[in-house]
Amino acid sequence: MATAVLGLQWGDEGKGKLAHLLAQKADMVVRFNGGPNAGHTVIDRGVKFGTHQVPAGAFYADTVNVLAGGMIIDLSVLREEVDAIAEHVGWMPQLMIAENAHLILPYHRLIEELEGSGTRFGTTRRGIAPTYRDKAAKLGVRAGDLLRPDELAKRVAWRLDLLKRRWPESEEAAALDATTLSEDLLFAGEPFLASIGTVANTIAAALDAGQDVVFEGAQGTLLDLDHGTYPFVTSSPTTYAGLANSIGIAVPAVSRRLGIAKAYQTRVGEGAFPTELLDEVGAELQERGGEFGVTTGRPRRCGWLDLVALRYAVALNGITELALTKIDVLGGCDEIKVCKAYTLDGDRIDRFPMADEVLRRCEPVYETLQGWDACLDGIDAFESLPDAARAYIAYIEKATGVPAGIVSTGPEPEATIYRGL
Ligand code: GDP
Ligand code: IMO
Ligand code: MG
Repeated sequence: MATAVLGLQWGDEGKGKLAHLLAQKADMVVRFNGGPNAGHTVIDRGVKFGTHQVPAGAFYADTVNVLAGGMIIDLSVLREEVDAIAEHVGWMPQLMIAENAHLILPYHRLIEELEGSGTRFGTTRRGIAPTYRDKAAKLGVRAGDLLRPDELAKRVAWRLDLLKRRWPESEEAAALDATTLSEDLLFAGEPFLASIGTVANTIAAALDAGQDVVFEGAQGTLLDLDHGTYPFVTSSPTTYAGLANSIGIAVPAVSRRLGIAKAYQTRVGEGAFPTELLDEVGAELQERGGEFGVTTGRPRRCGWLDLVALRYAVALNGITELALTKIDVLGGCDEIKVCKAYTLDGDRIDRFPMADEVLRRCEPVYETLQGWDACLDGIDAFESLPDAARAYIAYIEKATGVPAGIVSTGPEPEATIYRGL
């Protein structure tokens, strides 16, 4: 069985928790997009990790972990992460790195800073856009280049020359030296050299053999470069459509497309957010939900669940099942609102407008549902949830047309209800 774990909002839906749970039985876990802008929380045997690049299968000895071609990789972050996980689990995680995955170099972070896009868009400042831009401009350095040090050195020198000509006044750019950069890359990449190669054949063979393969998505649908709230998006595909291209398989047979959605809405960084709550209710959700970014520590903006956006994300990804997370965080709200439509310039609309400028003008049309008081600790059966919580879940299922097969009631792996739908 192959499962894709896909974020349906603006990221941080709980993909890490779900991917880690599914990885327990998986033969292979594949990350297929983004880089260390992602921060996935995994609680493994009581220890909390924020993973940025390593797939969640790294916590299991027999699972192969693939960093596919659509990813971008910061080797020093990868090294730190792998070492921390290896120390915790007591073995070296099995890794495969696609030779065509691009590498993030120190100058990518510098470019982001020089251009001021970190502030303008509220990015994670991990050099994401400059790295994907170099990829498209054929200026990139790829994991496979580590196997050919001469070629690597040439590529780095060429790119650095362009950088220095573009930013002649930058002291940081002037201080960068191509030989040192190449040597640093080779040093950081050294433990991974044997893991770098073609990954498509291995993934295809696993799928053909009916193995249990989990595709761990990063970010969320509304941050997709093409289909998200441009320009306040990340720089790669985040949806199911991006998966095939990233792994290099024409039509991967992924029958279970599990859409992860929080019971409310959050967003980190800039951009339109129709259901944002700037009042004490938003502050309470932020506090109860621990809504602070895993990668940057920034507070996440909070608001009511946006069903217009959720329906859009479900359709775009061909979602077959929902995993609703953080239901527990809504406990204690007297009433819960959900946005079922927008009004735009006086007209009611049901479709999600992609353009940020248009989304900014949308006013939510809310349905008010009953809240619940109870704490959900220890509840492991759907039937034991408070009536109002079940009604809330049923409302979301009806609005999206997709069953919520998994309900998450806390950050720990145990706080998960499987409905067996
Ligand atoms: P990801 O990027 O999609 O993997 O999500 P993050 O890890 O960035 O953010 C999700 C946060 O919510 C993490 O702190 C998780 O530990 C936490 N979390 C996940 N599921 C639940 C849940 O059902 N309830 C609560 N209270 N926290 C959860
Ligand atoms: P996970 O996988 C939440 C957001 C940034 C910013 C925008 C562009 O943990 O869900 P970038 O650095 O990618 O150029 O920033 O995208 N962003 C995320 N927000 N979760 C993420 O990943 C994110 N990855 C990028 O905050 O608004
Ligand atoms: Mg996250």
